[in-house]
Amino acid sequence: MIKLNNITCLNSYNHVIFKNLNINFRLGKKYLIIGDNGCGKTTLLNIIYGLYRNYKGNILYSDSITKLVAYVPQCNYLFNETIKNNLIKSLDYYDSDYLHELLKIMKLYHYMKKLPDGLNTKVNNSTKSLSSGQIQKIKLIRGFLSNKRILMIDEALSNLNNDSLISILNFLRDNYDKTLIIVSHQTNLIINHLDPEIIDIKDIANS
Ligand SMILES: Nc1ncnc2c1ncn2[C@@H]1O[C@H](COP(=O)(O)OP(=O)(O)OP(=O)(O)O)[C@@H](O)[C@H]1O
Ligand SMILES: [Mg+2]
Repeated sequence: MIKLNNITCLNSYNHVIFKNLNINFRLGKKYLIIGDNGCGKTTLLNIIYGLYRNYKGNILYSDSITKLVAYVPQCNYLFNETIKNNLIKSLDYYDSDYLHELLKIMKLYHYMKKLPDGLNTKVNNSTKSLSSGQIQKIKLIRGFLSNKRILMIDEALSNLNNDSLISILNFLRDNYDKTLIIVSHQTNLIINHLDPEIIDIKDIANS
């Protein structure tokens, strides 16, 4: 799967952010990455995905990264296209029944149904036509639809109301067999539902 060997991460001033991290991400397991703001959680996901290269150590992948991993990043950005296009962006294939099921699990279905153009409504980033929680749900659905063996989710649960969060966590517990790597500060609910392996990144730069 993905094996991190002795990863020491440096910031742009070459100060150590975290050091000597060894993690073996295994098939079907669930991982929760925790740690203070600025300790390097997002940077770690970027390293795994090949977006950040200022580190020492090495990483072994069982397949090419784009085949293996889907990444739901921390930033709340959607494309200025229809909601539907945002939901299925860059997917080769998707199952429309599964998409509708996910909209229901995410508690977005009824909201979308009431829009005059439904899923064909255009997203407008500048007028903020969707709430932060709704944007997170759309990004999460895209991640679930992508059907990669590993899904990395960076703080994309932070704006969800309790009902929606519990609905998603129940889905992940009962019906999702992919490897999950979640960065979140909502540790209690996630630990209770998913019983993940916990990876605590120690904040070296700020300690
Ligand atoms: N583009 C960048 N250029 C320079 N330094 C950066 C950049 N992005 C992050 N850093 C630094 O790297 C460190 C780790 O940041 P990172 O975003 O990985 O933290 P985090 O654990 O994800 O925090 P949060 O909980 O706030 O999301 C911080 O000290 C930050 O200042
Ligand atoms: Mg972060």
